[in-house]
Amino acid sequence: MEAMLTTTSPLRTLRQHHRHLQHHPLCLSSSTLSLPSSSTFGHTTRLLRITSKSWRRNPSFSAKSQVSPTPTVASTTKDIPTQMKAWVYEEYGSVDVLKFESNVVVPEVKDDQVLIKVAAAALNPVDFKRRQGKFKATDSPLPTVPGYDVAGVVVKVGSQVKELKVGDEIYGDISEKALEGPKQFGSLAEYTAVEEKLLALKPKNLDFAQAAGLPLAIETAHEGLERLGFSAGKSILVLGGAGGVGSLVIQLAKHVFGASKIAATSSTSKLELLKELGADLAIDYTKENFEDLPEKFDVVFDAVGQCDRAVKAIKEGGSVVALTGAVTPPGFRFVVTSDGAVLKKLNPYLESGKIKPVIDPKGPFPFDKVVEAFSYCETGRATGKIVISPIP
Ligand SMILES: NC(=O)c1ccc[n+]([C@@H]2O[C@H](COP(=O)([O-])OP(=O)(O)OC[C@H]3O[C@@H](n4cnc5c(N)ncnc54)[C@H](OP(=O)(O)O)[C@@H]3O)[C@@H](O)[C@H]2O)c1
Repeated sequence: MEAMLTTTSPLRTLRQHHRHLQHHPLCLSSSTLSLPSSSTFGHTTRLLRITSKSWRRNPSFSAKSQVSPTPTVASTTKDIPTQMKAWVYEEYGSVDVLKFESNVVVPEVKDDQVLIKVAAAALNPVDFKRRQGKFKATDSPLPTVPGYDVAGVVVKVGSQVKELKVGDEIYGDISEKALEGPKQFGSLAEYTAVEEKLLALKPKNLDFAQAAGLPLAIETAHEGLERLGFSAGKSILVLGGAGGVGSLVIQLAKHVFGASKIAATSSTSKLELLKELGADLAIDYTKENFEDLPEKFDVVFDAVGQCDRAVKAIKEGGSVVALTGAVTPPGFRFVVTSDGAVLKKLNPYLESGKIKPVIDPKGPFPFDKVVEAFSYCETGRATGKIVISPIP
């Protein structure tokens, strides 16, 4: 919240904003705006933080539970409130456009959707790029409640929902197409409405915070490996192996796709994590240029934006997927499609502990620290996922 309150007369600005928002479709009428504060969100939950050393001790690569208790959920539909707390922006821009609101309308549930009481969410770079207006041509209308990744409890089901029921603990990426009309009511809110097909039951061994960090990143990792035609016996170089996507590419390549050899890049302090995730070769990008190494790879998964260099690291006939930045042939780009079936397929690997979420040790960030979480995401230095938990 400090970042929000550094402008001149911030309270007045926020109140003006609130008056303005009362006429917006996301907001109900005129209840008093309450600013979040440490007392509003006085979580006494003790967070177990991990340091780079504790990755060695903690086989889950992840902050352990106590961070994300099962939310108190409405026991009947009539107990669901009509308004909720949420983070909202009504114009594109820097983190300063992010505002906390306490009277946002709880979204309606369409026939194929469920209403989720959100327990935890996670940030992805697309959240800040979208907020900066980079995808405004295909974005949903403002104002926006940001957030793609969610873990929580189903509190209401639409008439066409087939499998999920009230009380189910679920997780997923709530927007089927990340850039084409992503949801206006995202996961940085107490409630969000999501198509059943985008969700899966939460792996039983993971708490909400751990589960929330997975969907968009693991679906991107899986779809990228499939599009690369990756299969058992092939070698792979992962650029950005310590990030949200890269940390899962390494694990999926090893445990789901049967890679013969995995190399990955990071800065010096994260090399050990790369090895723990399953990399055979950890390359320190501050000391070596991966494209200058004599060894070449069947595929490169580029989660950094170095496609021009990545194409020099493949064998004859190899391929490169570039998640971001300019694409150099034969490299290619795709944009992830959210699909609950992928999460269902991967749940056994998660429940067996073969694949583990990596939660950045600076988090989980509580709900009143969303601005700080965005600022951190924008540094591009996160280790694994930036999780927001608990969400009241
Ligand atoms: N096309 C799609 O569908 C899609 C889907 C998901 C993500 N993306 C994009 O893919 C990119 C990665 O996403 P993400 O969620 O993994 O981001 P992230 O978690 O924010 O990535 C942060 C990581 O990047 C590493 N990194 C930064 N510069 C590096 C370099 N030169 N070499 C190696 N590692 C480097 C950092 O490690 P160090 O601190 O060691 O540098 C850090 O651990 C983003 O641009 C995102 O928008 C695209």
